[in-house]
Parts: sequence; C-alpha cells; structure tokens
Amino acid sequence: MNDTHILAVRQLVKHYDGGTVEAIRNISFEARGGEILAITGPSGCGKSTLLALIGLLDRPTAGSILVGGLDLATIRDPFAYRACSVGFVFQFHHLISSMTLAENVAMPMIARKVPRAERRARALELLARMDLGHRAHFLPSRVSGGERQRAAVARALANGPSLLLADEPTGNLDSVNGARVVDLFIAHARDHGGTVVLATHNLELAARADRTIDIRDGQIVRISPAKE
Ligand SMILES: Nc1ncnc2c1ncn2[C@@H]1O[C@H](COP(=O)(O)OP(=O)(O)OP(=O)(O)O)[C@@H](O)[C@H]1O
Ligand SMILES: [Mg+2]
Repeated sequence: MNDTHILAVRQLVKHYDGGTVEAIRNISFEARGGEILAITGPSGCGKSTLLALIGLLDRPTAGSILVGGLDLATIRDPFAYRACSVGFVFQFHHLISSMTLAENVAMPMIARKVPRAERRARALELLARMDLGHRAHFLPSRVSGGERQRAAVARALANGPSLLLADEPTGNLDSVNGARVVDLFIAHARDHGGTVVLATHNLELAARADRTIDIRDGQIVRISPAKE
C-alpha cells in the first residue's frame, strides 16, 4: 500500500455459522483516493459481507483491512470509526423512522460536533441535490422507497467521508434516479478525493466505476480494467 491507497484488503476470509458458510474466501485488493470501485457478482457471492467488514459492522475470520493505513483490527470503537471516516448506504435504507429526512441527513454531523445551523444547511443542500428539497421535512414513512434511498445516499455523504460504502444503492431507483446517485458518487470522488466502493448487480452502473471487481463464491474472479 502507498500513500494514495485509502483502502487495502488483504487475504480476507469471513465464515458464518462456525465455518459451514464461507462467505469470503481470501479476497485481496486496494483502492486509491478518489477511485470508484464496483463490486459485482451474483446474489450470495459475498458483496454485502465484504462491505460490512470494511464498514466494521462485523469482524473478519482472517485477513486484514487497512483504511488510510490504519488496521481495522486495532479499532476498539467502531462507532467513532464509522462516524468520522465512513459513509454507508445500506441495501435497505435504514433511515430513522421518527426523524424527518433532513434530520436523518444531519444526524452523522452531530458526532463531528458540527453546529446545528450548519448541519441543517448542509442537510438541505444535500437533499436538494437529490431532488428531495420538497420532502426534507417529511418522515421516511411518508415518502416513496426511491426517495428514502436517495435520502440515505445524502446522509452517507453528510460528513464528506474518505470512504463511501454503498450496497446496492440504486436497487429501488428508476434509471434517472439511479444515474443521479452515481453522479453524486462521482462528484464526491472527483471533488473531495473520496473513495467509493459500490456493490451492485447493475452492470450499467458498474460500467461507470473506474474498476470493477467481480466476485463468485467469495473469491475474486476478475478485476477490470486491470490498471495496476
Ligand atoms: N449473518 C449471516 N449468517 C450466515 N450466513 C450469512 C450471513 N450473512 C450472509 N450469509 C451468507 O454468506 C453468503 C454471502 O452473503 P452476502 O449477503 O454477502 O451476499 P451478496 O453478494 O450481498 O448477495 P445479494 O446480491 O443477494 O445481496 C451467502 O451465502 C449468505 O447466505
Ligand atoms: Mg447483498
């Protein structure tokens, strides 16, 4: 790994159920700052598991993950790690149901102690960029599935994370809104040098990434284009 590698995954293994499920079998790759990396492969190949390990929602069985040179195995407080360095868009949106979209988007900034007025302004700006300005003060239950997903993308970008992990972020979206989400990811990568790791079935979406890592049965079968 060199200075420009924000993410390094080394010989990663993840078993579930005492080893009966080998979700990840020896995966290694690196990603640079400002790079958009697509993770593709059929259902059950290990995409969500891989993102959960990088986002420290779970711990690997073996191998290591370095983010900005820091070995995640040494991190004792996953909450602080996620709050400061990582944005996560889940396969299912995970918005807080008792908060409006604007409050959901502003929430990650509380951990960084951003002043209230600034949180609110940034939340509204991000929602406007997702064409959700008119829904900012609605609860998640009062908006469509696609609108919830776009709000979840806005929330993931709230802290300008160096690493954005997106698990099937366009699954609920039509092609126009799917393209809009990817535009936002590309702008984040180009303008802020953020690295985006995007798990998707959607090959059109994957085609807009800088590189694609194709996984089968927990192993990398292809990296394209091979730029290394
Ligand atoms: N908590 C768990 N306990 C046991 N097995 C699990 C668990 N989570 C995932 N698995 C298994 O690990 C493998 C990889 O699952 P994963 O969710 O990473 O796949 P995926 O590529 O994200 O699939 P999809 O495209 O359907 O979202 C699958 O065989 C799955 O059944
Ligand atoms: Mg998945």
